[in-house]
Amino acid sequence: MSSIALNYANKKPLGKTNESIAVLGFGTHNIKDFTSAEKALIKAIELGLNVIEVSDSYALGLSMDLIKKVLAKVKRDEVFIVFRISPIILSDPINAITKFEQMLKRMSTSFVDVIMPAGSADLIPLNIEVKALENIASKGLARYIGLSGFTIKQINDILHMLQKYDIVMIQSRYSVLNRKIEKDLIPFAIKTGITIQACTTLEKGVVLRNPAILQIASKYNSTPAQVALSFVIAKPNVIALTKSEKVEHIVENSKAIDLRLSKEDLDKLNMLQS
Ligand SMILES: NC(=O)c1ccc[n+]([C@@H]2O[C@H](COP(=O)([O-])OP(=O)(O)OC[C@H]3O[C@@H](n4cnc5c(N)ncnc54)[C@H](OP(=O)(O)O)[C@@H]3O)[C@@H](O)[C@H]2O)c1
Repeated sequence: MSSIALNYANKKPLGKTNESIAVLGFGTHNIKDFTSAEKALIKAIELGLNVIEVSDSYALGLSMDLIKKVLAKVKRDEVFIVFRISPIILSDPINAITKFEQMLKRMSTSFVDVIMPAGSADLIPLNIEVKALENIASKGLARYIGLSGFTIKQINDILHMLQKYDIVMIQSRYSVLNRKIEKDLIPFAIKTGITIQACTTLEKGVVLRNPAILQIASKYNSTPAQVALSFVIAKPNVIALTKSEKVEHIVENSKAIDLRLSKEDLDKLNMLQS
């Protein structure tokens, strides 16, 4: 992977569309204090980091209520919403429209920017999920379609099944300490022009205690979170998702998009084992 050219940028293309989106976004899973999270997300949007990921499965739907509160304070077009939908909602392509409309109502918006099913694990036939996704997009309820946690074979199958839409984004775990997708998914995304939204980029805090990452951070007068995020967004086609419900962490993490690690330091990070 170290042979692939670095791709530092503050925004990256969304799939093969003409749009570019911020290279750092924030998820809404595992939130403990929703009041604090609301302030944190508003801060992120103010800083131009407006990609927010939400799911009907997070906190029994409370993350959707959080989006509603955020949307009461900012304009809809100031936020780029990525919605990770439970596959069961897509099990009936007609009912899926009504069910998704109810979720949009709960968030107080008429559309999301990207809808992505969370890996189906063969529970729902792929062609049914694809039909439901295209129905939702055709109704104008989602601008684009993405996928979360699918295998490359499944992604290829889905690309062949789609009739009117393309896949613009694939969400997958990726961090400086978990680089499995460098072997296959990142090269696949580069070849097919799909954006990868890397999640769990801080390994839920584990990267912050890694001695090698701490050492590189001190060299740049930065923090381990900034180094770990910078490592991820240096990769071609990859944007990063993290989670923080603290304004100070959002401000700290936002500085990662301007941190440019040298090739030598990226190579050192490439040597780390999970
Ligand atoms: N895990 C998955 O399998 C998965 C799958 C699909 C999507 N996602 C999405 O990806 C998002 C992010 O992934 P994740 O939640 O698994 O983990 P993560 O981003 O690797 O880590 C989040 C943790 O790091 C802390 N943190 C953030 N910035 C920090 C900083 N500057 N200094 C110290 N601590 C910091 C957060 O605490 P504070 O909130 O206190 O800052 C939180 O405890 C999720 O919220 C979810 O929306 C995850």
